[in-house]
Amino acid sequence: MIKFHSGENVPLEMHKVRMVQRVYLLPVEERARRIETAGYNTFLLQNKDIFLDMLTDSGVNAMSENQYASMLQADDSYAGSETYYRLESVLNDMFGMEHFLPAHQGRACEHILAKLLVKPESVAVMNYHFTTASAHITAMGGLVEEIIIDEGLHINSDLPFKGNMDIGKLKEAIARLGKDKISFIRMEAGTNLIGGQPVSMENMRQASEVCREAGIPLIFDASLLSDNLYFIKVREPEFKDVDVIDITREIGSLMDVIYFSARKLGAARGGGILTSNHEMFLQIREMIPLYEGFLTYGGMSVREMEAMSIGLRESLDMDIINQTPIFVEVLCNELIKKGIPVVTPPGGLGCHVDARAFCKHLEADQYPAGALASALYLAAGVRGMERGTLSEQRNPDGSEAVANMELVRLAFPKRVFTLSQVKYVADRLTWLYENREMIGGLEFEDEPKVLRFFFGRLKPIGNWPELLMKKFRKDFGDSL
Ligand code: F0G
Repeated sequence: MIKFHSGENVPLEMHKVRMVQRVYLLPVEERARRIETAGYNTFLLQNKDIFLDMLTDSGVNAMSENQYASMLQADDSYAGSETYYRLESVLNDMFGMEHFLPAHQGRACEHILAKLLVKPESVAVMNYHFTTASAHITAMGGLVEEIIIDEGLHINSDLPFKGNMDIGKLKEAIARLGKDKISFIRMEAGTNLIGGQPVSMENMRQASEVCREAGIPLIFDASLLSDNLYFIKVREPEFKDVDVIDITREIGSLMDVIYFSARKLGAARGGGILTSNHEMFLQIREMIPLYEGFLTYGGMSVREMEAMSIGLRESLDMDIINQTPIFVEVLCNELIKKGIPVVTPPGGLGCHVDARAFCKHLEADQYPAGALASALYLAAGVRGMERGTLSEQRNPDGSEAVANMELVRLAFPKRVFTLSQVKYVADRLTWLYENREMIGGLEFEDEPKVLRFFFGRLKPIGNWPELLMKKFRKDFGDSL
C-alpha cells in the first residue's frame, strides 16, 4: 500500500489498463422497463442492460497479460496434458498438499464432496453456509449447522476476523452430535454471505486441532482466499512480515481437504479439490471422470487451466490481492460518510449494504435486499446481488427462512472498476438513501424450489418503481 501525503486511503493501482470494454448507461425509463422484464431479479438482467456490473466477481475478474499469454500455450489433449501437470505443480507448491483433482467450478467440488461424505441426517458443521454448498448438502439429505462467532452476525463491529468459527461451539457440536453424525467440518475463507469477512490463521489452527483430535475431516473452501490472505497479512500481526506463500502452505498443513472456485481464486474459470489424505483422494478420484471429465481436465478448458496457474501465482502478490479489499474499503467509507448502513469492518469481495436498515419500512417477506437491488439498478444502471432472505431456501413447512443478514452486495471484480465509477455508485446510492421511503417490497410471481434467487421472477408490491423513476427524472433533469 502506497502512503499518500494527504493521509487519504487511495487504492493506487499497481497495473495499467491496456484493453477496455465500452459500457452504456441506458436512460432511466429504459432501465425501468429492463428490470420489469427481468422479473425484478438482477440475475435476469442482460449484460447490455447494465452500466456497472457489481453482481459478482465470479469469472469476471480482469486477467493479466501473462494469463492471456499462457492461454496460447495450452496443451490440449484429453488425457495427460502438460497444462494439467503445470497446474498441479503450482497448487502443490502453494498448499503443500499431495493430490489435486480438477473440477469445473466450485459447486462441482461441493457436489462431489457432499456425495462422498454426506449421509442422510448427518450434519455438516461450518463457520457459515454458502448457497451452493448448503444446496448440495441438503440435496444428499444432510443438515447444515453454523458456528460462526456471535459477532460475525453483527452488521457493525470492529473485529478484524468476523468469519471465525466459535471454537467453543465447535467442541460443543462435536460433543452433542458425536463424530459419526458429523459429515465434515467446513471452514469458508472470506466468508461470503456475512459480507466477505475473513478467518484468522489462529482460528484455522484451533479448528484444525479440534478436528484432528476428533477424527473429523476439516474442509476448507478457499474460493475467497485471496482477500483472506490480504487480511491475514494486514490484520494478524504475526504475519506482517511472513511471505504469502508461507501463509498458504500453513493453511494447507491444517486442512484435510481444500476446494475452490477458480472463477474467484486464480481469476480464471474452473476449480478443484486438494488433499493429502490418500484414501480420500482415491474415493474422490472415482467421481471425477463420472461427473466432471478425465482426471487431467475435470471439465475445464486447458486455456482456462493455464490462466488459472498464472492467476494462482499472482494471488500470492500483495500488490495484486490488495486491490479488491482497498476498493471495498473506499466505497464503504464513502457510504458511511453519508450515513448509509453497510457491513463493517469492510471485508473482501464487495461492499455490503444493509438493506434491513436501509429499508426499515419493509417486512422481511417483502425482500428488502431484493427490492433495494432493483431500485439501485433503476437509479444507477448498477447491478448488485441480493444476499438476504430471497437467497435462502424456504423451511420444510414452506415458511420463509428469514436470513440473518439482509444485504445487497456490490461486488468488485478484480481490477475492473475505477475510482470515479466507485464515486458514481456512492452518489446514486446516496440519492436512493434520501428517497428510501419510496422503495416498496417485492413478491414472487414464479418461485423455483431450488436456488430460487437465480431465476425466480418477482413483481413490485404497488407501483413504486414507476414513482421512483419519475422522482429520478425530476431530480436529475435530462441526465441518464
Ligand atoms: N464457495 C464460495 C465461498 C463461493 O463464493 C462460491 C461462488 C462457490 C463456493 C461456488 O463456486 O460459482 O464456481 O460454482 N460464489 C459466487 C458469488 C457465485 O457470486 O459469490 P462456483
